[in-house]
Amino acid sequence: MNVLLTGGTGFIGGKLKTRLESAGHDVMVVSRGPAGHVTWEPDAIRTAVRASDAVIHLAGENVFARRWSVHQKQTLRASRIDTTRLLAEAVADARPQAFITASAIGYYGTSAERHFVAGDGPGDDFLARLCVDWEAARQPAVDAGVRTATVRIGVVQGLGDGALQKMLLPFKLGLGGPMGHGRQWVSWIHIEDLLAMLAWLLENENTQGEYNGTAPTPVSNRELSTTLGRVLHRPAIVPLPDFVLRLVLGEVAELVLGGQHVTPDRAVTEGFSFRFSELEPALRDLLNG
Ligand SMILES: NC(=O)c1ccc[n+]([C@@H]2O[C@H](COP(=O)([O-])OP(=O)(O)OC[C@H]3O[C@@H](n4cnc5c(N)ncnc54)[C@H](OP(=O)(O)O)[C@@H]3O)[C@@H](O)[C@H]2O)c1
Repeated sequence: MNVLLTGGTGFIGGKLKTRLESAGHDVMVVSRGPAGHVTWEPDAIRTAVRASDAVIHLAGENVFARRWSVHQKQTLRASRIDTTRLLAEAVADARPQAFITASAIGYYGTSAERHFVAGDGPGDDFLARLCVDWEAARQPAVDAGVRTATVRIGVVQGLGDGALQKMLLPFKLGLGGPMGHGRQWVSWIHIEDLLAMLAWLLENENTQGEYNGTAPTPVSNRELSTTLGRVLHRPAIVPLPDFVLRLVLGEVAELVLGGQHVTPDRAVTEGFSFRFSELEPALRDLLNG
């Protein structure tokens, strides 16, 4: 297939591009920078979508890039919502076979008690509202009858960038440990399973709607740090107090400290199988391989 990919220079998109190309797809990347084949200029997008069999939209300002000022919140929203709307309108016009988009488990809000599956309603914090509007921006494509599928992505475990990479240095120095009280849920996914899920949605004509991109077994933040310490043969006993996280990260710290328990019931019911359902083999694969 000819696949138009946004976010193809990023942590997930870069690896997805490699994977899709090795599966025989031709991938054109939309980027703000010189590494892309297509710019975000609306005419360029419309032309590129017309030349594509499918569109995969992963672009978005990194949530942890900087503190959430009013301006940064606008950037986080516009980089997802405006781009999705532009693509969805081009998709509605050109009608490729599939429109696959990213969202985040932030859709559900944070909770210590509730367990979320794909049919559940949204939360009510900044990220939840962002995700609701991000997903709503797909509507022109849905209304035009184009198969549209969305992955609400969890905490991606991979190397090169992302949450795990940021945790490695303190853990290797023996300074790792739980964040805050450590009881908050971490709904993680091995990068290979996320890439496989995106490829499954691209290639499986029976899929559409919203799917949770999380492994079947979320863990507590304390279990994540204990497991990472065990895999790295390092202690994991130095907690990172919540006030330090709030001082360093600002409002985005609430995401890390709140957590959410999200499972991929819908994807599993529809036939997707995970290579890494449990955290320890996933981390061993990434770090000891
Ligand atoms: N990684 C995770 O754990 C995780 C969890 C939940 C959801 N997600 C979602 O999955 C998607 C991909 O995540 P990722 O970790 O691969 O992100 P990433 O490494 O930060 O890459 C994001 C991509 O988006 C583009 N981008 C960044 N800022 C932008 C802006 N202001 N306007 C337009 N494009 C912009 C960049 O492309 P150019 O610089 O080439 O333009 C980059 O390739 C994102 O939408 C993210 O919210 C990721």
